[in-house]
Amino acid sequence: MTRHNFIIAIDGYSSCGKSTVAKALAKKLHFVFVDSGAMYRAVTLYFLRNKVDMDNTESVLQALADIHIDFVPNTAQTQILLNGDDISEEIRQMAVSEKVSEVSAIKEVRHAMVAQQQKLRSRRNIVMDGRDIGTTVFPDADLKIFMTASPSVRAERRYAELTAKGEDVTMEEVQENLSHRDHIDSTREESPLRQAEDALILDNSNLTQDQQLEIVLNAYYSIKKA
Ligand code: DC
Repeated sequence: MTRHNFIIAIDGYSSCGKSTVAKALAKKLHFVFVDSGAMYRAVTLYFLRNKVDMDNTESVLQALADIHIDFVPNTAQTQILLNGDDISEEIRQMAVSEKVSEVSAIKEVRHAMVAQQQKLRSRRNIVMDGRDIGTTVFPDADLKIFMTASPSVRAERRYAELTAKGEDVTMEEVQENLSHRDHIDSTREESPLRQAEDALILDNSNLTQDQQLEIVLNAYYSIKKA
């Protein structure tokens, strides 16, 4: 019998701390961490840079054919490359955040990204975070986590993250961006954000990072033991 790779899917709303938990988990278990949101952000950056007409399917398909995304792990921070350029910082900017939900709701974009994400399965054990990992990308994932946190906690985290990087944003803008993205992410037709029925729900509004990691690790070890 061939042993399949272990897949951990972490889904949830924006700024819930998914990638923090996913990264810590990957480090602890020596799994590969894949930030699927970074892939949608990379596509968005390409669309913005090249003024791609998002309403024109031909232009979208043409752009997708020209987009090559790579992850370079094993550095302090996993780098993400768009056609060879390191865009790890640029994809976190507000200009990208403002457009990314619209871009990631485009059917052709989703199909292309989901296919790329599924290909990563053959490589190694994976922790992937996103919105549809446990429902669409890997519905048979070995462990599924659905993360939530209160809107005010999420907005505070996001605001602190952006201002620490020197972005000139107000708390109101951050709150508006988060609720706008929540709405688009959970109401789009193609693989909307929703909790997989078999996911473990992790509300981390009042949990430290260590506590969150412990909960997920316990879930992992109990599956491994079974
Ligand atoms: O996780 P993030 O905030 O970096 O994700 C950016 C956007 O990408 C988010 O608004 C929704 C979208 N996304 C998605 O539609 N599906 C995923 N698997 C991951 C992200």
